[in-house]
Amino acid sequence: MIHTPVCDLLDIEHPIALGGMGSASSPAMTAAVSRAGGLGAMGCHYLTPAQVRERAVATRKETNKPFGMNFLLFDVREDSFAEALQLRPAVMQFAWARPDQDLKSFFDRSHEAGCKVTYMAGQVPEAVRAAKAGADVIIAQGSEGGGHVGWMGSMPLIPMVVDAVGPIPVLAAGGFADGRGLVAALALGAQGILLGTRFLASIESPLHPNFKQAIVDSDGHDTQLSEIPDIAAGQVWPGAMTRSRRNRFIERWAGREWHLRQNRAEAIAQLRAAREMGDVDEGPLSMGQDAGLIHDIAPAGELVTRIAQEAEQILTQRLPSMLQREPQRVRA
Ligand SMILES: Cc1cc2nc3c(=O)[nH]c(=O)nc-3n(C[C@H](O)[C@H](O)[C@H](O)COP(=O)(O)O)c2cc1C
Repeated sequence: MIHTPVCDLLDIEHPIALGGMGSASSPAMTAAVSRAGGLGAMGCHYLTPAQVRERAVATRKETNKPFGMNFLLFDVREDSFAEALQLRPAVMQFAWARPDQDLKSFFDRSHEAGCKVTYMAGQVPEAVRAAKAGADVIIAQGSEGGGHVGWMGSMPLIPMVVDAVGPIPVLAAGGFADGRGLVAALALGAQGILLGTRFLASIESPLHPNFKQAIVDSDGHDTQLSEIPDIAAGQVWPGAMTRSRRNRFIERWAGREWHLRQNRAEAIAQLRAAREMGDVDEGPLSMGQDAGLIHDIAPAGELVTRIAQEAEQILTQRLPSMLQREPQRVRA
């Protein structure tokens, strides 16, 4: 079994974490990942305090294993965050602070409530800022990933963050979907991985079945970084674009963002309707390039086990067989 120091720190069996994904999270998905020995996460963005409590209670009904609560700091609701602190989750999973925001106060309050703190960063300076503010784990997120991402690819970003924040453990995110990805992340110096897109195509994911199928059908080449989903939602994300499926909705507004700003209300109403109806051409679908590695809709717990087993098999069988012994000297 692959076991890294972050497993002990977070009290998990496998170094595999679920990204908090706002309305794309569900208590069933969170609990399934934690039950299987990974770290589940509950997206708290947009939730009222009552909803935060309700979902945490629903998750705890399904598992007594640790899970995280995810907050987007640039847009955090103080009352919902205060409610989450009272619930004392094992982990507070933060991301996307404004440059002028004081991370330390959020981290200190979380530590006082007995939580471990993770912070997701898409750039080295942001990772260092979080490390200095007292984060226990840094998530280095590359731009291959789904949802809001920065500009650096995982391959250079992860070892750069590892070097910059060590000995604080790093989890790698953005483009990881299987055991090969876990082994690659370990080789880059991370202690595990955090995944979003892979778990969106799980049985427990709350996405409409058509959206899950669109991930399975994707060859990974049909995503695009764009500001269009945020313009439609009327939000300004600090330092990120959204990686989502390049569908009719994105293509209609690309290059005409000014027009979208003027017609936002109409566009957002259409988006919401399309999402509910499972219209994959008109509804937004945040997903990473690793969609091209996803070929089934499986139970989330089974995915954790599958990734851990595949990685172990690579480490114990495929990689050692590549190491050549010292060649025997042939006597003259
Ligand atoms: C639909 C969707 C919603 C997301 N929402 C959040 C969020 O609310 N908070 C957060 O920290 N990360 C969020 N993320 C990013 C994930 O935590 C994670 O970094 C990313 O999915 C990793 O890349 P991958 O999709 O290739 O696995 C979201 C990702 C997706 C696909």
